[in-house]
Amino acid sequence: MNQMFLSSWNNGDSSVPPSYVQLPENRPGKVLSSSHEAIPVIDLGGGDRAHITQQILKASEEYGFFQVINHGVSQDLMDQTLNIFKEFHAMPPQDKVNECSKDPEGSFKIYTSGENYKKISIHFWKDSLVHPCPPSGENLHYWPQKPSNYREIVGSYTREMNKLSLEILEIMCEGLGLEARYFCGELSENPSVASHIYPPCPEPSLTLGVSRHRDPTIITILLQDKEVEGLQVLKNGEWIGVYPIPNAFVVNIGLLLQIISNGRLVGVEHRAVTNSRIARTSVVYFVYPSFESIIEPAQALIKGNNTQPIYKSITCREFRTNFYQKGPKVRVLR
Ligand code: OGA
Ligand code: NI
Repeated sequence: MNQMFLSSWNNGDSSVPPSYVQLPENRPGKVLSSSHEAIPVIDLGGGDRAHITQQILKASEEYGFFQVINHGVSQDLMDQTLNIFKEFHAMPPQDKVNECSKDPEGSFKIYTSGENYKKISIHFWKDSLVHPCPPSGENLHYWPQKPSNYREIVGSYTREMNKLSLEILEIMCEGLGLEARYFCGELSENPSVASHIYPPCPEPSLTLGVSRHRDPTIITILLQDKEVEGLQVLKNGEWIGVYPIPNAFVVNIGLLLQIISNGRLVGVEHRAVTNSRIARTSVVYFVYPSFESIIEPAQALIKGNNTQPIYKSITCREFRTNFYQKGPKVRVLR
């Protein structure tokens, strides 16, 4: 059982097992310094709505990523949420498994490396927990009860994330020319929350925490540990580090929003690297539509701009199945 999770067996060895060594072309390598290039930081709290809209659109077109500050979520709740997930990852392996086994359909997942550990021969330096957190609260009876206030804290946090994600999407709608509530129904009905832990790694230059990927979401909102770097975004063929700003959230465009915006907003590749100094924890809120939702370029954008759709219609279920079956390096959408 201890072998199951990196956080349990990783105990100060000076090298990583061979199965964690990435191929030379996938190793972390060079990263652009933050003084050279950084993803935009957008202040949601102050100022002119039109200016905020324009900043969000520009960042979503050019980087597919931005950070938000003054977003209205309390610092206390952000700290409590990171801490509860740190406590979760520190529990004995059997407890973690038990706490994630209540849903007979298996929608609560706890795993090491990636969801397809057995299929992929080179592993990633992380453990993850992920489960649906619908705003309706309908699956709450399946949520972990250890640590003892998990349901209360993660419940409050995901309610705040639901609000914040809809606010951000509403701003994007204004910028794109879609009706403000476009994403408020089934397109945001089925979110998930995840938490990854990246334990200290003896050989960060050989390993990755998460392989390069795009998110199969509408948008993703990520909370990262203070002062621990790890997330990187691809821009013009170079990796740029997303430096943790205290109490900020990192927001990124997912592939489903890329389709709906007919390619105007972009789902950009990102990855996580490891470090030898300190464990890094992230908490991720994925905005997903219901499985039955049809994902296609928004009619209003096609007609309004007199253009052709560049993506085919697909159900969310089909999109997600394809995405996972093709592995982490999905590139083409069409
Ligand atoms: C993800 C992701 C990065 C991180 O979960 O999709 O990109 O820093 N995570 O944990
Ligand atoms: Ni991601």
